[in-house]
Parts: sequence; structure tokens; C-alpha cells
Amino acid sequence: MNDIRKAFFADLAASVDPVTFARSLGIDPDSWQRDLLLSADPRIILNCARQSGKSTITAVLALHHALNNFASLVLILSPSQRQSSELFKKVMGFYVDLGRPIVSETETALTLQLTNKSRIVSLPGKEKTVRGYSGVSLLIIDEAAQVDDDLYYSVRPMLAVSQGRLILLSTPFGRRGFFFKEWSESKAWKKIKITAWECPRIAPEFLEEERLAFGEWWFRQEFECEFSENLNSVFTYDEIMGAFDDDVKPLFDKNGGLNL
Ligand SMILES: Nc1ncnc2c1ncn2[C@@H]1O[C@H](COP(=O)(O)OP(=O)(O)OP(=O)(O)O)[C@@H](O)[C@H]1O
Ligand SMILES: [Mg+2]
Repeated sequence: MNDIRKAFFADLAASVDPVTFARSLGIDPDSWQRDLLLSADPRIILNCARQSGKSTITAVLALHHALNNFASLVLILSPSQRQSSELFKKVMGFYVDLGRPIVSETETALTLQLTNKSRIVSLPGKEKTVRGYSGVSLLIIDEAAQVDDDLYYSVRPMLAVSQGRLILLSTPFGRRGFFFKEWSESKAWKKIKITAWECPRIAPEFLEEERLAFGEWWFRQEFECEFSENLNSVFTYDEIMGAFDDDVKPLFDKNGGLNL
């Protein structure tokens, strides 16, 4: 095969297969990252340790999506504009590394608009700014455990008509909020959990050092993906849930009379 044909088939393979696409960006995906890239699930939660590679692989997915789906809208949300911009910068870096395979119409610090009419937009975690968007085909919420519930419930309808996909990625942050609730209670999601011990780029010696330096509670949350109780909580989540017992009659009946 001559070089032009080789290059053509390499481009074709990368546009069809997101794993080949990731490799063309110098990222050899870990097995869970491959699983994510190849998944067609509409709802995915990544409960992954710090530095395990969740933002990087989601950035790959976002760019692959925008390049290969005409007129698609990808939104990147996180608790702050700074954090959304971090993921967006990874997307832009990959786009530039690839030599801008589809020419852009607009490139700003917050938006990449391509000539195939696709857009990738990075937004702060503010309800007002986010509400204006509709027809979202991929919604990514980075550091989701720290995003307000109000914002989450206000952005979900954006996916209704477009039947868009939703990916939540985070390290746990206490036993509260939608990230914890969806992870622990909902069956509607594909769930991927990766502890730091499972990440080939994080040395076990480093982890032992972190455990000693910061303590067990913090270590379990940051590196072992455990939803740990806030240290200041008066009651634990399990104690509160345990208090809801179906066998116990309510004190008052629905007419306000004592339930004896
Ligand atoms: N499959 C991979 N191969 C090589 N390097 C990788 C791979 N996945 C991620 N990385 C690198 O690992 C580092 C951490 O990745 P990333 O920032 O995506 O992690 P994260 O889980 O989002 O971390 P944080 O919780 O701190 O936000 C980066 O330097 C990234 O380039
Ligand atoms: Mg990250």
C-alpha cells in the first residue's frame, strides 16, 4: 500500500474507532478507558481516583464525538470555569496535535466550533449561564461530586429531545449530592470505578506515603473511591437511611389523628 492510501486508512480507522483515535493522540487507553470509549451507554458514571486519567479520556471522547457527529453540541461543565477550562484545554490540545482534522470556525478559550457545525463549549457551574443551551448530544460533568444539585437537575432536560449522552466523572466528595445518589441508588447508569491501586501510572509506594501523610479517611476518598462520611456529620448516612423503617407506623395518620 502506498503512503497516501496508508494515511487514508489510518484516518478512517481513527474516525470509526475511538481507541485507534486515542492511540493516534499518543494515549494508549487503560482497559477501563477502552471500555468507556467503546461504550454506547447513554448514562455513564466514572467514580475514579485522583489522577487516574478520567479527564484525559473524556476529553478524547468529546473530541472524537464532535469530529464524527455532524452539528453535535458537546457541553463541558464542572464546579467552576477554571475546572471546565482544564478539560477544554485538553480537548484543544488534542485537536491541535491532530493538525485540526476538521477546520474550525471559532476557537476561543471556552469554545471550539468546527466547520462540520459541531461545537464543544466549556461552561462554569452556574445555572444562569448554562440554561441557554439545548439539543446537547454529549454532556460531560467533571468533578461532578462538587457540582450543585440544582445545576444538575436544571441541565438534565437539555438531553431530552436530543437523546444526548451524559457522563459524570469525579472522585467522591462525601455521602451527599447527586453524584453519590446516582452512584449508590440508580440502576440507569453504566458505572465504572477505578481506584489508584488499579492505575498503572501511580506507584504503590507513593500511595502508602499519601496514606501516612493525610490519613485513612482522606486516602479512602481520594484514592480508593469511597464515599466517606463527612467528618463533621452528627449522623452517618447509613444511620439516617436505617431510620426509615417500613415496619414502623407513622405517629399520625393522614387525618392528623394519633396512629395507635
Ligand atoms: N492511558 C493513559 N496513558 C498515559 N497517560 C495517561 C493516560 N491516561 C491519563 N494519563 C495521564 O495521567 C495524568 C492524569 O490524568 P487526568 O488529569 O486525566 O486524571 P484525572 O483522573 O482527571 O485527575 P484529577 O482527579 O486530578 O482531575 C495526566 O498527565 C494524563 O496525561
Ligand atoms: Mg480531572
